[in-house]
Amino acid sequence: MHQPLKGAIAGFGFIAERGHLPAYLAHPERFTITAVADLCPARRALAQRLIPGVRVYQQVDAMLASAQRDFDFIDIATPPSEHAAISHAAFDRGLHVLCEKPISTTDEDARSMLAHAAAARRVFFPSHNYRHAPVVKRVRELLDTGKVGKIHLVTLQTFRPTHAKGTAEWRPDWRRTRRYSGGGIAMDHASHSFYLAFDWLGGYPTSVTAHVEHRAGLDTEDGFSCTATFPSGTAIANLTWNAGVRKVMYSLHGEHGAIMVEDDEVQLALHGTGTVERSTAASDWMDASHVGWFATLQAEFLDAIRSDDYVGRQAIDALHSIELIQSAYVSARAGSREIALPAPASAPWVVRSMATG
Ligand SMILES: NC(=O)c1ccc[n+]([C@@H]2O[C@H](COP(=O)([O-])OP(=O)(O)OC[C@H]3O[C@@H](n4cnc5c(N)ncnc54)[C@H](O)[C@@H]3O)[C@@H](O)[C@H]2O)c1
Repeated sequence: MHQPLKGAIAGFGFIAERGHLPAYLAHPERFTITAVADLCPARRALAQRLIPGVRVYQQVDAMLASAQRDFDFIDIATPPSEHAAISHAAFDRGLHVLCEKPISTTDEDARSMLAHAAAARRVFFPSHNYRHAPVVKRVRELLDTGKVGKIHLVTLQTFRPTHAKGTAEWRPDWRRTRRYSGGGIAMDHASHSFYLAFDWLGGYPTSVTAHVEHRAGLDTEDGFSCTATFPSGTAIANLTWNAGVRKVMYSLHGEHGAIMVEDDEVQLALHGTGTVERSTAASDWMDASHVGWFATLQAEFLDAIRSDDYVGRQAIDALHSIELIQSAYVSARAGSREIALPAPASAPWVVRSMATG
């Protein structure tokens, strides 16, 4: 029998409290949270109330350097501007890392984080929780039946009436300040759209064209649309913080039909049959904590640690998501010019982790 893995949380804000922690506490056989670092005194006090015996720190560095350090991994849930530095400090101390999306605000940082994980022989795992939404799992099951055949077109629409808010006790609007967020809705949310598109189209894109909107006139964009070209087809993503409704709508078009998703509803339409199969997979889309999606994500992180899968497929998806976001911003600044993406095969950490693994 394995002992529970001990973990620390960096940044005890909205998603750590409402999404990550309940899933850890529901599985004491898997995890014990022993430490929390947060700049904000109210958040540290809350952590002490919610987590039995937890030690709290104001600074992540102090938590990592503490003589009482008693954890094997760090769960990074600060704003994105801090993710890279905390990951490097954790790898330097031999810790595994579970990191919220976007894993970094530049592709250079993302590459160096993955390379460091491989060199340190420690797991880097992104918090790609949309893969764990029941409705997304249903899409995967339908794809696996082979009924719609190979997918050549994916559309992903994410409608939000406002930007997501952080905890009221720190800076609830940090997503509108580039210094913390690295960008607007594309940096905040497009990772989810992109890792789903990578899965559904079975590869990584070769180029992107994009357009951004700044309707609120703030530091970061509130509307984003892009078309990414893949070897197998096309992904079109539209994301807005100015929508009239909160909703996700996805469509996947294949050789023999299509799968359509609208929040919890899934439709499978097949050419020539005239029938549409409808089903529902309750996914609690209106709850921004997505608390029900984290237990299986955290179990995958544990599996990666136990199988020495230091830089696995999801980490590489995270890197390519950041590359795509950055290249989309370049395209938008250049009047939606098509921008070529780096070839995925040149990833040095894959070779390195295989060579040392
Ligand atoms: N996967 C998802 O569905 C999902 C949902 C929401 C947020 N997120 C991600 O989680 C991260 C946090 O978002 P949030 O909405 O919880 O934000 P938040 O503002 O609610 O929480 C951030 C916390 O980090 C603390 N903090 C900030 N800088 C720090 C530092 N240098 N050291 C220690 N603590 C620090 C703040 O005091 C705050 O408590 C972001 O990367 C965001 O994109 C993911």
